Amino acid sequence: MAEILVATEEAIQKAANLLRNGKLVAFPTETVYGLGACALNSQAVARIFEVKERPFFDPLIVHVADLAMVREVCDFSDPRALRLAERFWPGPLTLVLPKKPLVPDIVTAGLPTVAVRMPAHPVALQLIQKAQVPVAAPSANRFGRLSPTLAVHVARQIGDRIELILDGGKCPVGVESTILELTNGPVLLRPGGIPLEEIEKVIGRVEKASFSGIPRSPGQLPFHYAPSVPLRITSQETPPPPGLRVGLLAFSSVQYPERFAHVEILSPSGDLKEAAANLFACLHRLEEKVDLIFAEPVPEVGLGRAIMDRLRKAEAKF
Ligand code: TXA
Ligand code: MG
Repeated sequence: MAEILVATEEAIQKAANLLRNGKLVAFPTETVYGLGACALNSQAVARIFEVKERPFFDPLIVHVADLAMVREVCDFSDPRALRLAERFWPGPLTLVLPKKPLVPDIVTAGLPTVAVRMPAHPVALQLIQKAQVPVAAPSANRFGRLSPTLAVHVARQIGDRIELILDGGKCPVGVESTILELTNGPVLLRPGGIPLEEIEKVIGRVEKASFSGIPRSPGQLPFHYAPSVPLRITSQETPPPPGLRVGLLAFSSVQYPERFAHVEILSPSGDLKEAAANLFACLHRLEEKVDLIFAEPVPEVGLGRAIMDRLRKAEAKF
């Protein structure tokens, strides 16, 4: 079983040493917990795919601590990339840019591009700084399952397969980074922690990738981010079917609490930021307690886009 250590300076140094030695470490970021390996070590990266049971065609995000590291892994000459980095890094924005040869093919699934982000969480930044290497890290869950926003979520899904989990408490943003392709774009590949509206203020109109059979980014697979029980997006008016334990994921208030076996509220004040931060933790609790989840839609603006994207993908799995 993985050791779970509170992310003190000493623990972060231990994790950095493990990374440098080709081992895997789970660590907090501002979005979700990541499962990290040295991005320059193909064997260590291969182990990420094994641990997650993730198909090799699904490329990883490379996490960096400064712009010098960015330039080692990708061509960072696009002026839009620079403007976005100035505005949003460190933070929950991932840029897809032409890759440099230093990055092994296993990281990018053979693509000529690499996804890069500079995380804002101090533990993630310190870990990368201490390791002195770029860190490839997907969310630290099994493939297709709910992303972890607490160290215990990581321990439950993959704790028996890795050595160390750095515990940094709850991830403050709670949904994964926004992924933006700049090579043929700008194209929004995944809505996430930075709202599309904010990005458009910096670089103008962004095309929204629509799913058309072959994903441009496997994050567009229609069935990612799913709880282990079916989820239906529906209004609170819909009566739950009899004979099943049905749970409700409500946005801000509950109309008929007596109808449901368990209820979770994303944000009592109707704040989309708070709702995003609570999304995965609410879904983790619901999947343990009920057979079917009814999820109320949230307004599709700002972080609401990322929330609705995750809910639709959860719904599409069943
Ligand atoms: O917030 C996040 O982004 C978290 C934390 C740990 O940083 N990471 C994360 O990684 O969500 P993951 O592996 O769960 O999702 C990364 C997505 C995948 O859907 C992958 O297909 C896409 O990024 N991706 C990676 N490289 C790509 C590339 N070169 N072109 C297009 N999409 C890419
Ligand atoms: Mg993921």
